[in-house]
Amino acid sequence: MKDILQELDTRRGNARLGGGQKRIDAQHEKGKLTARERIDLLLDEDSFEEFDMFVAHRCTDFGMEKNRPYGDGVVTGWGTINGRQVYVFSQDFTVLGGSVSHTHAMKICKIMDMAMQNGAPVIGINDSGGARIQEGVDSLAGYGEVFQRNIEASGVVPQISVITGPCAGGAVYSPAMTDFIFMVRDSSYMFVTGPDVVKTVTNEQVTAEELGGASTHTKKSSVADGAFENDVEAMAEVRRLVDFLPLNNREPVPVRPFFDDPDRAETSLDTLIPDNPNMPYDMKELIVKVADEGDFYEIQEDFAKNMVTGFIRLEGRTVGVVANQPMVLAGCLDIDSSRKAARFVRFCDCFEIPILTFVDVPGFLPGTSQEHNGVIKHGAKLLFAYGEATVPKVTVITRKAYGGAYVVMSSKHLRGDINYAWPTSEIAVMGAKGATEIIHRGDLGDAEKIAKHTADYEARFANPFVAAERGFIDEVIQPRSTRKRVSRAFAALRHKKRKLPWKKHDNIPL
Ligand code: HXC
Repeated sequence: MKDILQELDTRRGNARLGGGQKRIDAQHEKGKLTARERIDLLLDEDSFEEFDMFVAHRCTDFGMEKNRPYGDGVVTGWGTINGRQVYVFSQDFTVLGGSVSHTHAMKICKIMDMAMQNGAPVIGINDSGGARIQEGVDSLAGYGEVFQRNIEASGVVPQISVITGPCAGGAVYSPAMTDFIFMVRDSSYMFVTGPDVVKTVTNEQVTAEELGGASTHTKKSSVADGAFENDVEAMAEVRRLVDFLPLNNREPVPVRPFFDDPDRAETSLDTLIPDNPNMPYDMKELIVKVADEGDFYEIQEDFAKNMVTGFIRLEGRTVGVVANQPMVLAGCLDIDSSRKAARFVRFCDCFEIPILTFVDVPGFLPGTSQEHNGVIKHGAKLLFAYGEATVPKVTVITRKAYGGAYVVMSSKHLRGDINYAWPTSEIAVMGAKGATEIIHRGDLGDAEKIAKHTADYEARFANPFVAAERGFIDEVIQPRSTRKRVSRAFAALRHKKRKLPWKKHDNIPL
């Protein structure tokens, strides 16, 4: 028996060494951790239960039968994050460059199937040279099986991808179908075709970092939702995110102990809005002051900054926040911000996360660039996403809510459940000056007359009371009481039930 146990230990030891000490050292020299080190940081101490440690590929081409390392380049299993179950796969670059063979893919599929069956998130740590070149179509078939599971799991269990190394070719499409993608600065990249192919086909000279590094994908393409300095920070931040998420689409949001009085008044909010309606202010200040313990987990912080999205807690329960940011483009809606917020709203709705919307929006951004690039279609995404979301929706208008953008931003008309406005709100079709120029076009008159018409329009519409008279606003609230009012609103909506008509699925404008 002793020998048998010894044999198991030896085999386990070999498997744990992956591609060997030399390759582990090389990985460390690049500032990267190994697949197992990442899992250790991601999961609660001693919680990892590994599967398929002894799986080896079956390829016999190109001398591969002599190179059959245990684990086949990916470490899989489950464990816990702050006591809550998650499934994880972590590609091991030290084994054949983490490349994906059919058996490697099947290991990933196994834990995805378990995650679906048992209702727990899947976290994929990607560090791979892509399809195992020696295997040909077997590898592609394996990828296809993973893709299909990504699709079926979407909206059932949260899926999170962390890109910690190369991610090229079709390999980017599995992460692309997950809910969140995080990258590590200077050591990860994602592209469909690498710099060499780009050079050959288009004659463009570009580095891997420029083409598909963390900065590119968090600032320009919006493929990634966040970027971290190194593997350690990435794993810590994924733990933080998982704490906000329900385990699956049938579970309520997690409830954490909270030490922040839900009735806490924030007098400083009474002066957040500047006297001059054209002056910006930082909407994040409001978000942080409303959140339990000021804890805000921002998603896509560096992209479309005129819209802020992320998670907070109220009375210990997760709430998704969508907010216009007056500091950037005056908080206008445009293509990028509409897409960003629409995807976030849909994520929240999939997983029964209530949505809090803060509104200060002067309208859609005008211009040929916006129109020619389809602002109609992309703006409609956000409109559609809000209108189809059946989760509790609470809205607070802080200042401007003009035109179509007023309707889009979780208005009563799109089944907003509780809609508040600060007394500083201006709810109208457009700003007073623009309105005057149109209404009095035939008789605009001199500066004095224009000023008078503008003042008349402001007096009539630059306030929340016309909307409140009609019940489009449920109550005009003191800014200082916002945390209390929205906490109570969400508490009142905890048992909300609303169903849309039966359909196979909708046809959101893509
Ligand atoms: C087999 C691979 C491999 C792969 C890397 N390796 N990628 N083996 N299939 N796809 C092996 C290398 O041969 C090497 O083995 C070891 O992994 C480490 O690789 P290095 O090249 O030494 O590392 P590095 O210099 O850091 O470069 C990493 C790399 C590069 C940029 C990822 O290896 C590379 O370009 N690989 C090929 C990438 C690629 O074209 N993949 C196919 C994409 S198409 P030894 O034994 O020498 O240490 C695709 C289609 C998916 O993925 C379709 C899904 C539908």
